[in-house]
Amino acid sequence: DNISVLGIPIDLGASTIGTRLGPDSIRLTGLLEELLNMGLDIYDFGNIDIKNSNKKIKFPSNMTNEDRLLPSLSHINEEVEKIYQRQSFPLILGGDHSLVLPSFKAFLKKYKNPGLIYIDAHADINTEKSSPTGNVHGMPVAALMGLCSNKLNNIGGSYKLNPQNLVYIAIRDIDKGEELIIKEKNIKYFSMADVYKYGIEEIVRKSMVYLGNLSSIYLSFDIDSMDCDIAPGTGVPVRGGLNYNQARLILSLFGKEEKIRGFEFVEVNPSLDDKNKTSEIAKELILAFFGKSFI
Ligand code: ARG
Ligand code: MN
Ligand code: MN
Ligand code: MN
Repeated sequence: DNISVLGIPIDLGASTIGTRLGPDSIRLTGLLEELLNMGLDIYDFGNIDIKNSNKKIKFPSNMTNEDRLLPSLSHINEEVEKIYQRQSFPLILGGDHSLVLPSFKAFLKKYKNPGLIYIDAHADINTEKSSPTGNVHGMPVAALMGLCSNKLNNIGGSYKLNPQNLVYIAIRDIDKGEELIIKEKNIKYFSMADVYKYGIEEIVRKSMVYLGNLSSIYLSFDIDSMDCDIAPGTGVPVRGGLNYNQARLILSLFGKEEKIRGFEFVEVNPSLDDKNKTSEIAKELILAFFGKSFI
């Protein structure tokens, strides 16, 4: 098979419930059928079984839903490791962004010293100490670097993301504590101002040059990287993001890069959407990544 698809319907890490519906609403658009029509072979692992909760529970640790979330993240790590046993390209459909902690841990275990391209309005690099919300979808990057409590840091093993192997694209809504970490660790980022200054082709080129000495890179795409007036079905919407053509172009260009060996698409929340338009956009963006031409 060319592609292994796995749905991770989790919303324990988010401020608003509903991303648990993301994988199925994206499937409902006919994504997999269209990938098949493009001549790609697909192995569908279905969705992981996640015990979500309809009520947010605060914990003294400042990790919302800690009791259910930690075992769920460990379970996600085990399931993602299973899809990495197949020699095919992994496509993960989320789910809130806390899932990148266990999914990228599996990638870190499989590939030595991999890179991470993180397309998002947010940096998701809060620790439990710095987080203003306690929501773990705002913390996975910090946990991947070992900056959170060990309960989070050690999900999926003690593998660590090197801060120099990370590139953010489209970030524009950063908390104070996150800004300090980004500065202190000298983390590479391209803001929306950079996107307009250089253009999408150049942002992609610069990102690949920056990660040039690495042989395996993972792409994590948060739908809120897009402008929320275009893609409203998401829990922490931010204006001034990527427009439809920019998002499609950036994914089609990254999709041609051989070194990108995994792709996840997160934070689609159909319960906040206008019809199913955000999932329809998600489908088109994923198709662009896998080579659908749109010119
Ligand atoms: N920075 C905010 C927080 O820590 C928002 C994070 C939003 N993250 C996301 N994956 N949408 O709560
Ligand atoms: Mn299981
Ligand atoms: Mn995110
Ligand atoms: Mn985000």
